[in-house]
Amino acid sequence: MDLISAKEAALQWDISQRRVLVLCSEGRIPGAQIVGNSWVIPRRSKKPNDARTIKARNKTNEAKPFLKWAGGKGQLLNEISKYYPFTKKKHIKKYAEPFVGGGAVLFDILNKYDVDEVYISDINAELINTYITIRDNPEELISLLKCMENEYLPLDTLKRKEAYISKRACFNELKRDGFKNVELAALMIFLNKTCFNGLYRVNRKGEYNVPMGAYKNPQICNANNLLLVSKKLQNANIVCGDYKDSASFIDDRTFVYLDPPYRPLTKTASFTSYTEHLFDDDKQLELANFVQLLDNKGAKIVVSNSDPKNTNEEDNFFENAYANQNIKRVSAMRMINRNSNKRGRISELLISNF
Ligand SMILES: C[S@@+](CC[C@H](N)C(=O)[O-])C[C@H]1O[C@@H](n2cnc3c(N)ncnc32)[C@H](O)[C@@H]1O
Repeated sequence: MDLISAKEAALQWDISQRRVLVLCSEGRIPGAQIVGNSWVIPRRSKKPNDARTIKARNKTNEAKPFLKWAGGKGQLLNEISKYYPFTKKKHIKKYAEPFVGGGAVLFDILNKYDVDEVYISDINAELINTYITIRDNPEELISLLKCMENEYLPLDTLKRKEAYISKRACFNELKRDGFKNVELAALMIFLNKTCFNGLYRVNRKGEYNVPMGAYKNPQICNANNLLLVSKKLQNANIVCGDYKDSASFIDDRTFVYLDPPYRPLTKTASFTSYTEHLFDDDKQLELANFVQLLDNKGAKIVVSNSDPKNTNEEDNFFENAYANQNIKRVSAMRMINRNSNKRGRISELLISNF
């Protein structure tokens, strides 16, 4: 059989290589197989109907995350949504998401329910500036992004690289000088859409240092979605700060979803550089104490984290930290090896007090 690589299939079908790998591992491409470390695909394979595209077409009135964010919970929504306690008879009317990141759960909830009060926070100041700008100033943001898109897309790769580096330097300058404005928000979105894998990573000095990605035709300005997001956020409290600051908002009428940086499965696999602040085991234990405090207040709580038992059956870190809570194991598709393109199913934890 004549076989091609995932990269060739991606070019042929005009989708990302990452998407081809997901389709392969979901068994959606007949005859696709792993040879050595990589997927190969029969040359005559047809591009599968993409369920994401069909879903997206049916949901144009729904706000969705406006950034790609490491640890995004899009693929766990089916599991997390089983916990939503916002039915008519229940008294839960408030929602708090203190580690909001890209907000996959936030937007899922805002699309499905009318919630009386919303509190979101993150320690990443540039991310929170983007949320606030979208809530308060979407039109100006959209016009800046449109300009950036019109300038960038016609360029060849070399010129795109120059433009990317110059925008990244500009972002770091505004960040360093503590500016919080529409320009910083536009640059945040531009970099997220054009950088390698939508990653947000900073060095020790706090400078964003991700290289440019290889997207052919990235959508830098999704005006429709930004306006939908803006509408959904109108009454939200959007806070830049530590997750513990949410304590004063949370009461017995609140559903709280906490998605902290995951505890690394191995010493070398640690991606926790969302900001210059690290989230080590002591921080994980502090969070478990905070959850107990919220539990005592009567809030409904769900926490997600990695499952140490993927790599060490004996590791009972979370069983010990959350001894009073329920722990459920769910399966997620993740990159399982940084050096290959392999994705696989691994177990993750959903910890809840109900
Ligand atoms: C796993 S991500 C959240 C992903 C999010 N659920 C999504 O769907 O995109 C963790 C987030 O916690 C933020 N963070 C890290 N330490 C924090 C702290 N002490 N307080 C609040 N947020 C923090 C990071 O900036 C990051 O955005």
